[in-house]
Amino acid sequence: MSQALIDQACKVMEGNDRGSYTVPTHGLYPFQWNWDSALSALGFSHFDMDRAWVEVETLMAHQWEDGMVPHIVFHEPDDGYFPGPDVWQTGQSVPTTGITQPAVAGLALRKLYNRAEDKAAARTRLVELLPKVHVWHQWFYRNRDPENTGLVAIIHPWESGRDNSVDWDEGLDAVPTEGIAPFTRRDTTHANPDHRPTDDQYQRYIWLVEHFRGLRWDNTKLHDASPFRLVDPGFNAILIRSCDDVAELAEILGVPAMASEAREMATKGREALESLWNANLGQYTCYNRAAGILQDTPTVGGLLAAIAQVPPERAEALVRRIALLSERCDYLVPSHDPADDAFDSKRYWRGPTWLVVNYMIAEGLIQSGQEAMAQRILAGSLRLIEKSGFAEYYDPISGEPCGGGDFTWTAAMVIEILKIQKVPA
Ligand code: GLC
Repeated sequence: MSQALIDQACKVMEGNDRGSYTVPTHGLYPFQWNWDSALSALGFSHFDMDRAWVEVETLMAHQWEDGMVPHIVFHEPDDGYFPGPDVWQTGQSVPTTGITQPAVAGLALRKLYNRAEDKAAARTRLVELLPKVHVWHQWFYRNRDPENTGLVAIIHPWESGRDNSVDWDEGLDAVPTEGIAPFTRRDTTHANPDHRPTDDQYQRYIWLVEHFRGLRWDNTKLHDASPFRLVDPGFNAILIRSCDDVAELAEILGVPAMASEAREMATKGREALESLWNANLGQYTCYNRAAGILQDTPTVGGLLAAIAQVPPERAEALVRRIALLSERCDYLVPSHDPADDAFDSKRYWRGPTWLVVNYMIAEGLIQSGQEAMAQRILAGSLRLIEKSGFAEYYDPISGEPCGGGDFTWTAAMVIEILKIQKVPA
């Protein structure tokens, strides 16, 4: 049974493989996405280790001079996606967007290295890649935490990877829509519009892009100039975890300066994360930095914080919170609490369950010794696949497939989940 699923998952990944990078899915997302690639590398690592490294190498080859790693690399022209390179105008030799995405690459490198049978070959690749990932992490704290709080802000909802989460609603209210160039969305021609963000949200997304473009994508200016500045616990936790992983790898490579810098960033971030603990909800929540408000939005961003090896009592509380959510839906972990008015079971990040998120929450819970809930989340993820195939995301109540089909990172997670039950991570 599990081998049949792994074979199907490999086929999905191979179908989306463009040689040196994968597209998330044919049609809807025809380029390379940042955190998709890092997570997809984990899937490749179980059947083609060389291809796994290549995925991360291609991503890091498009790092900006200032250290940022862009959220999309537009390797080939494709009219099927909006906003394309002509809207972003970032001036890179291979066009990219001008914003970033969750820093999963550090975590991916550590797993690839740990799994590599030929350690000498892995080391050679790591020597090239690790400094780049470290520079990206430093870029984050320098540019997205100018007041040195230990927490970085995102300046566009798309940076979070949870594009239209309820977490961004209030922050987006501060973003105007006047004056943007008229545009035609392309996503709603590939996927059901009821599963996608609304037109009003899209206008605000594009306003921000045009605003940053007007500042020539100068990252020393963008944070303070953005009316949208949100501190996402999940986003920060992934960064903290990747700093931990870089520190470990730097020690293995014998680069103590990098190890201690990375460890310092992680320690500071982990301490600061505590300021996002929301005692009312029993989970972490987003802080709207532009407005100075800790939000009460019960989203999965606060549960994803589990990946940063949070204090044991926090991990326990997160497990309790997830157990409560499991009484409200059959398929963990919903991206929004089904009991909240804003919950929408099929609309993208406003309710649906995503396998990549499940995997990262489980990864963190296992690290924190919360094995039972982690296994429950992983087993539920496989039930979704068996029921509904390799979809982009799933209705947490009915288990129906939503968004795009034959999705790379969903397939990668299935391989990862089935393999890590046997192979040590
Ligand atoms: C959507 C998701 C984002 C992902 C991208 C490609 O924009 O919200 O997280 O990286 O699709 O799969």
